[in-house]
Amino acid sequence: MLGVCYYPEQWDEARWTTDARRMRELGISFVRIGEFAWSRIEPARDQFNFGWLDRAMDVLHAAGLKIVLGTPTATPPKWLVDECPDILPYDEQGRVRGFGSRRHYTMSSQAWWRESARIVTAIAQRYGDHPGLVGWQTDNEYGCHDTTLSWGPEDLRAFQDWLRRRYQSCDQLNEAWGAVFWSMEVADFAEVTLPNLTVTEANPAHRMDFWRFHSDQVAAYDLMQCDIIRAHSPGRWITHNFMGFVSDFDHFAVADHLDLASWDSYPIGFVEKFPFSEAERNRWAETSHPDIAPWHHDLYRGVGRGRFWVMEQQPGPVNWAAWNPVPKPGMVRLWTWEAMAHGAEVVSYFRWRQAPFAQEQYHAGLNLPGADALSPGGLEAGRVAQEIAQLGQLPAVQQAPVAIVFDYASYWATMVQPQGCDFRYEELAFRWYEALRRRGLDVDVVRPGAPLGGYAAVIVPTMIHVTDAAQAALESAKGVVLIGPRAGSRTRSFAIPHDLPPGPLHDLTQNRVIEVASLRPGLTQTVSGGVEGHATRWRDHATTTAQVLARFEDGGPALTQHGQALHLLCWPDEALLGSVMDLVCHTAGLHTMPLPEHIRLRRRGDLWFFTNYGPEAWSLPESFECVLGNHQMPAQSVTVAKSLSEKV
Ligand code: GAL
Repeated sequence: MLGVCYYPEQWDEARWTTDARRMRELGISFVRIGEFAWSRIEPARDQFNFGWLDRAMDVLHAAGLKIVLGTPTATPPKWLVDECPDILPYDEQGRVRGFGSRRHYTMSSQAWWRESARIVTAIAQRYGDHPGLVGWQTDNEYGCHDTTLSWGPEDLRAFQDWLRRRYQSCDQLNEAWGAVFWSMEVADFAEVTLPNLTVTEANPAHRMDFWRFHSDQVAAYDLMQCDIIRAHSPGRWITHNFMGFVSDFDHFAVADHLDLASWDSYPIGFVEKFPFSEAERNRWAETSHPDIAPWHHDLYRGVGRGRFWVMEQQPGPVNWAAWNPVPKPGMVRLWTWEAMAHGAEVVSYFRWRQAPFAQEQYHAGLNLPGADALSPGGLEAGRVAQEIAQLGQLPAVQQAPVAIVFDYASYWATMVQPQGCDFRYEELAFRWYEALRRRGLDVDVVRPGAPLGGYAAVIVPTMIHVTDAAQAALESAKGVVLIGPRAGSRTRSFAIPHDLPPGPLHDLTQNRVIEVASLRPGLTQTVSGGVEGHATRWRDHATTTAQVLARFEDGGPALTQHGQALHLLCWPDEALLGSVMDLVCHTAGLHTMPLPEHIRLRRRGDLWFFTNYGPEAWSLPESFECVLGNHQMPAQSVTVAKSLSEKV
């Protein structure tokens, strides 16, 4: 179940055999290669140099490693950029983003599509039936370095084409966007501009469509690569390595044509990336917050329709966050087990050996730079490999009792029109997930419109535009449905629904939102009744015909219930969120196991995986029998156990 990312092109060929042998000795079965190697594969147009890659594949295969081959499109070489400068992306300020790192392309460029198809075809033809090859990775981390949206002339042309197909006529476009407001109407699609560099804010409907257009492009571009690979490489699966806390495109849509999802897990780096408080950042700086990696495991298990890998696992300190501490001893092992607890088929470390040159010199590998010597993370990986062998085949992952509906478009919509500058959708979803996990619950993350019938509770942190499919799924849910603030507040055209928010969710909730308030830091509103706490950041002022379970101080409804549907009309602080989740669990008949802030639990079949993020020790109830680790869990440790009673 372990893998590693390896760059044969970065090391003397004389080292490959030893590297491959040492990988096997460490317990590694899979090796991912090739995703940045274009300049070595094709040093000049049509002059392919496959010899080195042939030999590298053969060496790895001969050592018994299973190979995952990446298409090298994240790094177009210099000669290609010089030949076709229109492949370069533009930033929102209208500046071209140049050659010299990676991801320097826009999917809007027709030349780029041609060139991508050409290199992917060449590689798929060459290696599609290599006996060591088990699967493919398309490109590398779509969206990384803020590359989903591009703002250049090629993007404008492609966006206009997309709009032409979507709206057919300018009248329909003007109508949908409400373009009469401020005389923004156009008489020809060629008159449509990019939604940047305007004097004040651009029309949100325009921006939202620009975002949808780019999201569609990622899915189409990836499908183009998949179609080529499938034509030349029968029997091999295809994945893409998605990222943490990147929601710029609809990952579900991209994964629709992948065989499995994968993602790149840098739990400590993400502590700096996520908007935690400074106190939380310090608390979790050397271990990561206990829900960061799990949130993504659960998300990508959903994205991958049950199948996912960790394609890159942090093996020690990274180089790219604002601060990059060394993980506490035990964390690399803990993260690896945790990924498997959530259903990862393989955990693949990034990277085999730390690079003593170029951009990532401060990024650890499983081996020290230059040397054939394991790093502290490498030693932990070796320990996990032995433990996996000891534990044997893990049981199948079962459906969780709770689902969170995650909606990428709600992230775009709230970025396009924040209204309160701290209304961050990813943060809302993450905090609601955290509250569930603090109660010892397993959670599935599903897309809007996914069937919800099998869940005791369905959590919708928000859903700005509710599609027909999403509405139907929510209405046919059997369990408790908790809907959050701002839900149903915009139509597909980014307008306020004519019957007021929550629009299509009116029948379900029996509420109508007549005003909204965003609340600056420090401004809160007290909520009391069946749940207690405060609203922060956001409040929906609503009229209701539902049962009111809790009210704001001014008497307005804060939490309502109609049938099985609960509607929370604000962004809850920690106390209110906890109180609401307790009520949800109680109403749904869910059995909870309240956990301290540093302990988490995830079940897989009959195995219960406990993780202790530390720094305090913790002991498991006696009603468990340990199969790995002990009842007494020291800081940064894992215990895998079986429950001796049905419930705890
Ligand atoms: C990932 C990327 C890798 C490497 C790594 C460093 O985002 O896919 O190529 O750069 O980060 O943490």
